[in-house]
Amino acid sequence: MSLVVFPFKDEPPALISQNIEIALRHDRVEEVWGIAEPDTGIAQDLRDSASRYSTYHSKPVALLEQERIGDLRPGKGDAMNTAIQRAAEQDRERVHFYDADITNFDAGWIEGAERAADRGYGVVRHRFPRAATDAMITWFITRPGLAMFFPGTILPRLDQPLGGEFLVTTPALHALAASADVRARSDWGIDTMVTYETATLGLGLYEHHVTDGKRHALYGSLADLETMAVECLDAVRSLHGRPPPLLNAKHASDSATPAPQDLKEMVAFDADGTAAILETPLTADETDIAGRLPIPLEQAAADEEAWGATLAHLLQEFRLDLPQWRALAFRLWVARVLAYTREVVPRGYDGAMSYLEGTIRGYETAGQSADR
Ligand code: DGY
Repeated sequence: MSLVVFPFKDEPPALISQNIEIALRHDRVEEVWGIAEPDTGIAQDLRDSASRYSTYHSKPVALLEQERIGDLRPGKGDAMNTAIQRAAEQDRERVHFYDADITNFDAGWIEGAERAADRGYGVVRHRFPRAATDAMITWFITRPGLAMFFPGTILPRLDQPLGGEFLVTTPALHALAASADVRARSDWGIDTMVTYETATLGLGLYEHHVTDGKRHALYGSLADLETMAVECLDAVRSLHGRPPPLLNAKHASDSATPAPQDLKEMVAFDADGTAAILETPLTADETDIAGRLPIPLEQAAADEEAWGATLAHLLQEFRLDLPQWRALAFRLWVARVLAYTREVVPRGYDGAMSYLEGTIRGYETAGQSADR
């Protein structure tokens, strides 16, 4: 039987409560946990509906406060790790994790993951189409970084390495609970660490395809994603030199289906509002480190080739603890996303997707040549 976990922060309580109820209704689910960031008050708002659902479905619903487990900014990683540690202590058989902001969560997510686990996969990740201007950290930081560090393996090919939607069986759960790197990653970098750990366990990894995509609130300016972008950059940087997944690791995936039309037309962030970020003057410290980029700042993010060199430099030099590095890396990523949005997105959804996939293959090839 399965436990379903929703880490949450500031998502609307009505949405969290709806997703909790959907999970409770599934006959493979025996218990649901919501893990709340401390002091947000949301757990309090949810308590009534949680106890009503729990009585109605005769299954426990626990609203737990996240503990301080990691070393970095306290955030999603502490929430995930709170659940991972407790579920491992209880030797749970299967644990599903879902980000609480999914607006199209339904039984199909749980069902798809359960069926793959029934077929012997120790880890099941959900994959889903996203808008051409969504997933910009995934496309310009995480997948390129995984491609450069682990070319030819499943890591760069995973569709949603930052996805918080996955299932782990007992051995994978124990491995995550025992990993010092996973425990330390208290911030947005947690998804990258979980992806790396679970992909290298050799327990079989299945990607279940959610045809309708993951629907969630989108962004205003890319400034909304600043903290996430730099923490995800730091997480992928920290994987340098780690052992790659086995080349013959069992990996399978549902075939992708065409993205829904409305998603193909969706705009995920405000490009005009974002452009102002590039007009902010650099500080003296930022100017100093920008002078050491392999490509001058103005061209450093102009196209996929320049970005490859720039990102490779960031993956060596970036320091999460230094404000100048956070600001410069964020600015470079914004410049890359805006250049792509201006030059590639107008080709249409399918053109943009095949361009993005092509960039990942290109970074893998570059990574393979660097390894020789
Ligand atoms: C990503 O890039 O995948 C993040 O979720 C932000 O959209």
